[in-house]
Amino acid sequence: MEKKPEMLKDDVLKLILRENDYISGETISRTLGVSRTAVNSAVKALRQDGYGIISSTNKGYLLTEIPDILSKGSIASYLPDNRCGEVYFFESVDSTNNVLKDLASKGADTGTTVIADHQTGGKGRRGRSFASPSGAGIYLSYLLKPVSGFNRVSDLTSWTAVAVSDAIKCACGLDAQIKWVNDLLLNRKKICGILTEVSVEGESGLIDTCIIGIGVNVNESSFPAEISDIATSLSIESNGKLYSRSRLASEMIKVMDKLAADWPDNSYYLERYRELNITSGSRITAFPLMIENGQGRTGTALSINDDFSLKVRFDDGSVEDLRSGEVSVRGLYGYT
Ligand code: BTN
Repeated sequence: MEKKPEMLKDDVLKLILRENDYISGETISRTLGVSRTAVNSAVKALRQDGYGIISSTNKGYLLTEIPDILSKGSIASYLPDNRCGEVYFFESVDSTNNVLKDLASKGADTGTTVIADHQTGGKGRRGRSFASPSGAGIYLSYLLKPVSGFNRVSDLTSWTAVAVSDAIKCACGLDAQIKWVNDLLLNRKKICGILTEVSVEGESGLIDTCIIGIGVNVNESSFPAEISDIATSLSIESNGKLYSRSRLASEMIKVMDKLAADWPDNSYYLERYRELNITSGSRITAFPLMIENGQGRTGTALSINDDFSLKVRFDDGSVEDLRSGEVSVRGLYGYT
C-alpha cells in the first residue's frame, strides 16, 4: 500500500536532507518501499514548498536550497532513527501543551513531543498568553511520565532552561543566559519561555504526567511595541542571520531526551544553572504572586540554592529564600 502523500514527502525529505550528495530515485523508492512515480510526486511537492532540488538523469536528486520550514521530515533528518518517542508536527494548534495533554491521556509515553509552527492560544505562565506567530518560532512540548522525584517537579523547569540553553549553543552557537527562575535571555532580553504543566492522579495525589512546554523566538525580525523592550529573537541578536528551526528543534528534542534519562539525580543541571544565571549579584524587586498589586521589595540577589530557590538580601537587612511559585522577580531598572 502506498503511503499518504504528506507522510511520503516527510520520508523523502529526511533521506535527501541526510545525503550530502546526489541520492538516486531508485535508492529512495527501494528504501521507502514505494514506486518511482510516488517519489517524483513527493519531490515535486517539496519543490513547491521551496526546497531547491535538482535532478540529474544518471545521478538522482541533489538538495541545493533549504528553506526555513518546520516539518516532521526535516526535524527527523537530524534525529537518530532508533529514538524512542513519537514526534508530532502541526502547522497550527491552539497550544502544543494542550495537544500533548490529550495524547498523554490516550497513553502516549515519555519522549512524545508535539511541535507546531503556530499557536492560536499559546499559554504563558500565570495565565498569560504567549505570542506564537507562524514561520518564526519553535513551540514544542515534551512529555515525561511517570515522574519520580515529583516533590521536586519545579526543578524540572530549571533543568529545562539549562537543557535549552545547551541546545541553542549546539545548533546556533549562541550563549543564552538564564534569568531566575527560567527565562532564557540574549543580551538581557527574553528569547525563550518555559511552561511546565503537571497532572495529578486523584486517588494517590501523585504526579502522573508532566508536560514541559518551550517557546523559542528564533527568526522573528521584530516584536510588538509593548514587548520590544523585553523580548528578542536569536536572529535579531545575530544581526538578522536566520537559523534553521528544524535543526534547533531536533537539538531541543535531544537535550530533552538526555534530561529525561538524567532526571532526577544529576549535579550537572544545578552547576550549569549557576553558571548561566544572571540574576545572582543583581539588584532586584520581588513581587508576591498571591497578592494582587502587592508591594515589591527591593534587595540584592545573592545566589541560587540547591533547590533552585533564590537567596536574596532585602534592603531591610533580612535574608530570604525566594521560590518560583511565590514571587516574581524583576531587575531594579527593567526586566533583568
Ligand atoms: C512564559 O514565558 O510565560 C512561558 C511560555 C511558554 C510557551 C510555550 S510554547 C510551547 C508550549 N505551549 C504553550 O501553550 N506554551 C508553551
